[in-house]
Amino acid sequence: MPPKDSIIKIVTIVGARPQFIKAGAVNRAIEELNKRGNRIREIWVHTGQHYDYLMDKVFFEELKLPKPDYHLGVGSGSHAKQTGLMLERIEVVLQKEKPEVVMVYGDTNSTLAGALAAAKLNIPVAHVEAGLRSYNRTMPEEINRLLTDHLSTFLFCPTDQAVRNLLNEGIKDGRTRIVKNVGDVMYDSILYYSKMAERKSSIIKDLDLCLSTPNSGLRAQNYYLATLHRAENTDDPKKLKSLLKALNEIGKNTPIVLPLHPRTKKMMEMYHLSSGVKNIRFIEPLSYFDMLKLEKNAKGILTDSGGVQKEAYWLKVPCLTLREETEWVETVEEGWNVLVGTGMKRILREVGHTERRRRYRKGNRIFGDGKGGGKIVQILTRRSANMKNS
Ligand code: UD1
Ligand code: UDP
Repeated sequence: MPPKDSIIKIVTIVGARPQFIKAGAVNRAIEELNKRGNRIREIWVHTGQHYDYLMDKVFFEELKLPKPDYHLGVGSGSHAKQTGLMLERIEVVLQKEKPEVVMVYGDTNSTLAGALAAAKLNIPVAHVEAGLRSYNRTMPEEINRLLTDHLSTFLFCPTDQAVRNLLNEGIKDGRTRIVKNVGDVMYDSILYYSKMAERKSSIIKDLDLCLSTPNSGLRAQNYYLATLHRAENTDDPKKLKSLLKALNEIGKNTPIVLPLHPRTKKMMEMYHLSSGVKNIRFIEPLSYFDMLKLEKNAKGILTDSGGVQKEAYWLKVPCLTLREETEWVETVEEGWNVLVGTGMKRILREVGHTERRRRYRKGNRIFGDGKGGGKIVQILTRRSANMKNS
C-alpha cells in the first residue's frame, strides 16, 4: 500500500465505445480503494474519437462514469489526422497534469496516441488488454496494440496467451517492466452489470422479439444478434456485400437484429448496399445494458467485434466470428466461437450448427476471476509509490 498521504495521479485516456466500458471497471476499483484510505486521483481524458450520443454519452450516463476532465474534441478523420490531433492535444494535458501513470485501453487510435504522447514525455504507460495479437498487420488495431505494448511499462494482460505473446516479442516481467495476467476487465464489467441489465433493459420487448405463449411466459432465443464494424470488413465492398447477403439469408428463417455501427452505416450508403437487405433488422447502436440483454437471450451471435466475441463466451451464447482470425483464440479453442470469415456459404453452413456447439461448454477461468480492475489498481499504486520514493 502507498503511504496514506501520497496522492497518485493517473491520467486515463478514453475515446471509443469499448474503452468507456473497460475504463469504467478500473474506475470502480479505484473508487473502492479510495474508500479504504487510498488517494488515487484519476483524471479522465476523452479524445472525442466517438461522439454520437449512442456511441458515447449513453455509456457515461448508464454506467455512471466520471465526467471527463478534458474533452479533446478530435472526432473522425484519417488515421494520421486523427492520431496526430490526439497526440498534440494529449501532450498539452499531460504537461499540465504531470501524472505518475497514463492508462490506455485496448487497441484504438486513442490508445496509441495516449501511449505515444506519454512515452515521449517519459511518463510510464499502463496498457490494459496488453499482449493481444491477431498477427494480421493490415488491421489498424494490430499496429496500435503492437506499438502500445512496446511503449508500455505496465502491461496488464487479460489471459496467459497474451503474456506468452509478449514474451515472444521479448517483453517480460522484470525490473523495468511489469507484465501480469490480471484477467479481463470486461469480465469484471459483465459480472457487475449483467443482472442489472437483465432487470433494467426492456429491449427484447421493445423489439418484439419474444414469442409470447399464453401460459408458459415468454420465450426468447428466437433471434440472432449480429454486429459488424471492422474496417477490414466494412471498407471492402465485396466483403461487406457478401456479409450482408449472408445475414439477409439467415433473416429469411430467423429474425436477425443488427445494431448498426456508424462506420458500417456510412459504408453501406457509400457502396449502395442499403437495399436488398430487408430481412436484416437494422437498429441504432445500443446502450450497454440493452446490448448485454440482447446478447444473453440470443440464439446465436454473429460478429466481428472483439468485445462481443468474449461476451458471447461469458454469456454462453454460441458465436460465429466474421473474420479469418481472432485475438481471442481461447474462445475458439473452447468450442464457443467459430471463425467463419466473410463468405456466404461458410457462414450459412455454420449457423445451422450453433445449437450443437452449446453442448461443448466447459466453463473455466481463462479470462480471470472478474477482479481485474482491483488487481490493476493495487499493482499501480504499489509500484508508483515506490517509483516516487526512489
Ligand atoms: C474504432 C476502433 C476499433 C474499435 C471501434 C469500436 C480505431 C482504428 N478503430 O473503430 O478498433 O473496434 O472503434 O467501436 O481506432 N462515426 C460516427 N460517429 C461516431 C464515431 C464514428 O459517425 O461517434 C463514423 C465516422 O464516419 C468515422 C467512422 O464512423 O469516420 C469510423 O470511426 P472511427 O472512430 O475512426 O473508427 P471505428 O470504426 O469506430
Ligand atoms: N456494444 C454496445 N452497443 C452496441 C454494440 C456494442 O454496448 O450497439 C458493446 C458491447 O457489448 C461490448 C463493446 O460495446 O461491450 C464492444 O465494442 P465494439 O464492438 O464497438 O468494439 P471492439 O470490442 O470490437 O473493439
